[in-house]
Amino acid sequence: MARPARVRLRELRRRDLRAVTAIEADRNRDPWSRTLFAGELDRPGDDRHWLVASAGVTVVGFGGVMYGAGEAHMLNLAVARAWSGRGIGRRLCEALLTEAAHRAATGFTLEVRASNTGAQALYTSLGFDSAGVRPGYYPDGEDAVIMWLHDLAPFAEPGTPDLLVEAVAGDTVHEEIPPPVGHETAQPHRPH
Ligand SMILES: CC(C)(COP(=O)(O)OP(=O)(O)OC[C@H]1O[C@@H](n2cnc3c(N)ncnc32)[C@H](O)[C@@H]1OP(=O)(O)O)[C@@H](O)C(=O)NCCC(=O)NCCS
Repeated sequence: MARPARVRLRELRRRDLRAVTAIEADRNRDPWSRTLFAGELDRPGDDRHWLVASAGVTVVGFGGVMYGAGEAHMLNLAVARAWSGRGIGRRLCEALLTEAAHRAATGFTLEVRASNTGAQALYTSLGFDSAGVRPGYYPDGEDAVIMWLHDLAPFAEPGTPDLLVEAVAGDTVHEEIPPPVGHETAQPHRPH
């Protein structure tokens, strides 16, 4: 069985752009280019908040928010296919919502493809409500569901704890969490 890996959230850095663009190309039907992500990092001011989730040196997900008029607007969110379903997308959303609460945003909004029921389920479980549809919002003509969360108070608690998830075989995770002492399969972890 795969050993657990510690997933940490941190700010997006330029050196993450290759991994982020690769995840984006695989997970989104109208993917952002590397140039678009780089432009986010180059923006002056602090109206953006981008996070990556990393398992050791492996970037496994990312999310970004734009701030304006006192509101937070999700720009993008994706988790690498192999790492999906482990709670990483939820943790990224929670951390982005916590930052929005700290910035005293009056609400948090996003658009999601009408067909993307998985992501909608995630947002609903976090407290988002559907607030209408933008017809033909996406380049391929699909409608967007507009979602809003107005009560950010539940996310105001400081700190986002690391997440322990099952590691993905074949991915480089240098910071594996060793099994408990005495575990029969315990192996010393050697850095490469
Ligand atoms: C949406 C996405 C970011 C979720 O990340 P994830 O790490 O796989 O999700 P999590 O493991 O944190 O799951 C959180 C919740 O999402 C929902 N969910 C995620 N995938 C789902 C699926 N395929 N079907 C139904 N619900 C799903 C569930 O409510 C789940 O809650 P649960 O764990 O209590 O069942 C990820 O699937 C992804 O990158 N999708 C492609 C890109 C995308 O759709 N981005 C959102 C654009 S608005």
